[in-house]
Amino acid sequence: MKLLSSALMLSTALAVPSQVHLSLGGAVDSSGVSTGMYVMWKTDGQPSSTVRYGTSEDDLSEQAQGSSKSYLDGHGFHHTALMENLSCDVEKIFYQVGDEADGWSEVFSFKRAPCASSGTVFSISVFGDMGYLDSDLRPPKIPHGDDTYHGLNKVWSATYSRNMLESLKNSGDIDWVFHVGDIGYVDDSFASAPLKFTYEEVYDGYMDWLQNLTSTMPYMVAPGNHESECHSPACIAQELKYGRHLRNFTAFNERWTMPSEESGGSRDTNMWYSFNYGSVHFVSINTETDWDGAEEQETGDSHIPWLKAGGFGEDGEFLTWLEADLKAAYEEKKAGGRKWIIAAGHRPYNTIQEMKIEEMFIKYEVDVYFAGHSHSYSRTTSSDKPVYIVAGGAGCDEMGPSKESLLLGPLGQDLIESDKYSTGVLDVSDEKLSWRLIDSIDGSIIDSVDIL
Ligand SMILES: [Fe+2]
Repeated sequence: MKLLSSALMLSTALAVPSQVHLSLGGAVDSSGVSTGMYVMWKTDGQPSSTVRYGTSEDDLSEQAQGSSKSYLDGHGFHHTALMENLSCDVEKIFYQVGDEADGWSEVFSFKRAPCASSGTVFSISVFGDMGYLDSDLRPPKIPHGDDTYHGLNKVWSATYSRNMLESLKNSGDIDWVFHVGDIGYVDDSFASAPLKFTYEEVYDGYMDWLQNLTSTMPYMVAPGNHESECHSPACIAQELKYGRHLRNFTAFNERWTMPSEESGGSRDTNMWYSFNYGSVHFVSINTETDWDGAEEQETGDSHIPWLKAGGFGEDGEFLTWLEADLKAAYEEKKAGGRKWIIAAGHRPYNTIQEMKIEEMFIKYEVDVYFAGHSHSYSRTTSSDKPVYIVAGGAGCDEMGPSKESLLLGPLGQDLIESDKYSTGVLDVSDEKLSWRLIDSIDGSIIDSVDIL
């Protein structure tokens, strides 16, 4: 009896869902908005991938079966299931994941995307380059000089921005989050344990750290260079065990499900996709691979020859898709449909120039392009569109301590810059896009602008 109950406890422990997170997806309604929501989670063992959901905590009468994958032996299973045909007449959808045999997660809830394409008001947080925890909790143990070593900082923090997101969620100031690449800096994680394999443990930690946010609102992601691979000493030395299984954006594409299939984007991956939300058409672009001159076209971020990267589509497929997607959004906008087109990707303006898509953005009247990669904030100030905004100051081990703002950048009147830890919020209405950059430490507004 004792043995049986121990075995049962072990089985249940292995199946406990963790890292629960949501993203917009599923079939679109007559207004072009997703009527579904993907839910993703991790278990150590492999129970079934079931979500049950409904309109109250006591009525989870709908059920959907998803699927799970394991991309690295011994490091668990990642599940995805789709809640479909969600009503927009109810305030909240309640759900839990797991299965009957192995146990369920707690019940979470979220708000569905608005049903109308106009007259909607909503807010999102946009930022890139957020690490995990801070240098007190994950001190770098590789040798360093006074402040930095090989680009990693002795003193840094992502905790302020994480706490600011929690505060924005609690006050109802954001409906969802767009993280434009460099998610958790898990490829840098060996800095706190140079000889250990830390990639998966730190990615798991990051996802649990955010669950309180990501289980209650969509957390949309774009690929950044730090998603590309594990190039730590353990991954290089044990290529067969680790390195080859984690190259070419594997963890990013297996842990997350974005609406790529729904939007005709990259096949079976999250490398490029688009979706509608209220009066906005959002496009998530791939600044990392699949265009001539892409930094990771042949190899990943470390450029170690055997850590190959790229090839998520046929030659030219990504940019052909991007133009067609923007053209369709532009035509809808001109026909009186959606009001705004917002593009987001990891790398800033100079990469948009290298990709030769600046003209495309102008031609199809993209209103704003959000990026990260630079660990700071900048915004163009001319009235020309698109407005280029870099919101890469969320805090990470490649960004030092928060510094005083530099209000004017090297381009004089054309740019506003800041080196403070910060989180951006975009309020959307039919009349304007109101953007503000919030100091993650004290909550003050560093920069704000209305885009009409
Ligand atoms: Fe980056």
